[in-house]
Amino acid sequence: MSRNVSEKAETPRRVLVGVSAGIAAYKTPELVRRLRERGCEVRVAMTRGAKEFITPLTLQAVSGHRVHETLLDVEAEAGMGHIELARWADDIVVAPATADLLARLAAGMADDLLTTAVLASRARLWLAPAMNHVMWDHPAVRQNIATLEQRGARTLGPGSGSQACGEEGYGRMLAPGEIADAVTAGSEALAGKRFVVTAGPTYEALDPVRFIGNRSSGRMGFAVAEALAEAGAEVTLIAGPVHLSARGGIERIDVRTAAEMRDAVMAQLPADAFVSVAAVADYRPASRSDEKIKRSGESMQLELVPNPDILREVAGLSPRPFVVGFAAETSDVGENARAKLEAKSLDLIAANRVGDDCGFDAGENALVVYSSDREWDLGSASKTALAEKLVSVIAEQMENA
Ligand code: C5P
Repeated sequence: MSRNVSEKAETPRRVLVGVSAGIAAYKTPELVRRLRERGCEVRVAMTRGAKEFITPLTLQAVSGHRVHETLLDVEAEAGMGHIELARWADDIVVAPATADLLARLAAGMADDLLTTAVLASRARLWLAPAMNHVMWDHPAVRQNIATLEQRGARTLGPGSGSQACGEEGYGRMLAPGEIADAVTAGSEALAGKRFVVTAGPTYEALDPVRFIGNRSSGRMGFAVAEALAEAGAEVTLIAGPVHLSARGGIERIDVRTAAEMRDAVMAQLPADAFVSVAAVADYRPASRSDEKIKRSGESMQLELVPNPDILREVAGLSPRPFVVGFAAETSDVGENARAKLEAKSLDLIAANRVGDDCGFDAGENALVVYSSDREWDLGSASKTALAEKLVSVIAEQMENA
C-alpha cells in the first residue's frame, strides 16, 4: 500500500491561457493579470492568427513566461514541450475562443500547439467565446459548443452588447475579471466535510504474474474525487491499480486487492461520507501460488472465495458516514440499482449500464442516481461533467440528511 498527497496540493493553481485569433485578444493580457492577482501561475499559448491581434511579447511580459506558439519548433519543445504543458495545467482557459477554434476543438483536431495541448490534457477546459452575434447563433457553432460541453468543457459567456463589427448582440467576450472570477471560484458546498472515495479495479493474484481483475479504468472515481475537492471537501482517494494521476489537493492511497482496499477504507474512518466507485472484485482465488502456475495440458479448476463487501460493511457501521454506492449493470439498471440501495442500506446509488461499448474504460458515461424516494437522471456526458452533477446531488442530500 502506498500513499501520497498529490504534489500539486501546495502549489498555486496552474492556468494555461489559450489565445485564438479574435479582436477580443486585446483583452487577454488583462485576463492574465487578473488570474495572477488571484494567485494563479499562468502560461500562454497562442494560435498563429492570434499574433495578428496581440504580440507574444505583451503576453510574455504579463505572464512572466515565454509564450508557447508553435508545435514544431525544436528549440521551444526543448523547453516546456506541448505534452509537458498539457500535464502542467490544472485549467486551460481559451479566451477568446473563436468559431474556428471551437470547431477545431469539437472535431478533436491537433493541428497547432493550443489544440494539441487541449487534447493531451486532463485539465478543466474553459471557453470564453468571442465572435460576431450571427456567427454565435449559427447552428454549426451551437453544435460545436454543445459537443464540447458534453465532453466537460465549461462555457463562459459570451455577453451581449455592441460588437467590434458595429453590430449589437451576443458574442462579446466576457470581461477579464469575470472570466478570472469564474475560473478561480471554488464552490464551498462541501467545505469542512471529509470524504473517502474508492476508485478503479482490484487485482486478485493467482500467482506472481497472473490475477483476476476487471476493465475499470478508475476515471469515474478520479472524476468524483476531483469534483468533491473542487466543492471544498477534504478527499482521500483509495485507488486500485490504475494509470491515472489525481489533480492537486487529494490524498491518494494506492492498493491492489479488495482486502487491502477494505483495510485502507476502514483506517480512514470516521469520515463524513464514503463514495464507493471502485469495481471491487467480488471473489478472489482461495489460495495464491508462490510460484508461477505451470501449464499442464489438463483442464484446471479455480476455487474462488468471496471478498469483503466494503460498501455493505461501511453502511453497517454505527455511527456511519453518508454512503454512496455505484451499480454497474448490464441489464435492468434501475431495478437492480434500487434493490442494491435497499440491500446495502445506502443513502444514494449511482447506476450505469455497462457493456462492450459504454461505461467501463470509456471517457463517457450515463448515470441515474437513486435515493430511497427520489431519482435524478444525470444524462449522458463526460465522466468529469457527470461527477460534478453527482457531487451537487450528494451535497444537497447531505444537507437534508
Ligand atoms: O453488488 P455490487 O458489487 O454490484 O455493488 C457495487 C457497489 O458495491 C459499488 O459501489 C462497489 O464499489 C461496492 N463494492 C464493494 N465491495 C465489494 C463489491 C462491491 O464495496 N466487494
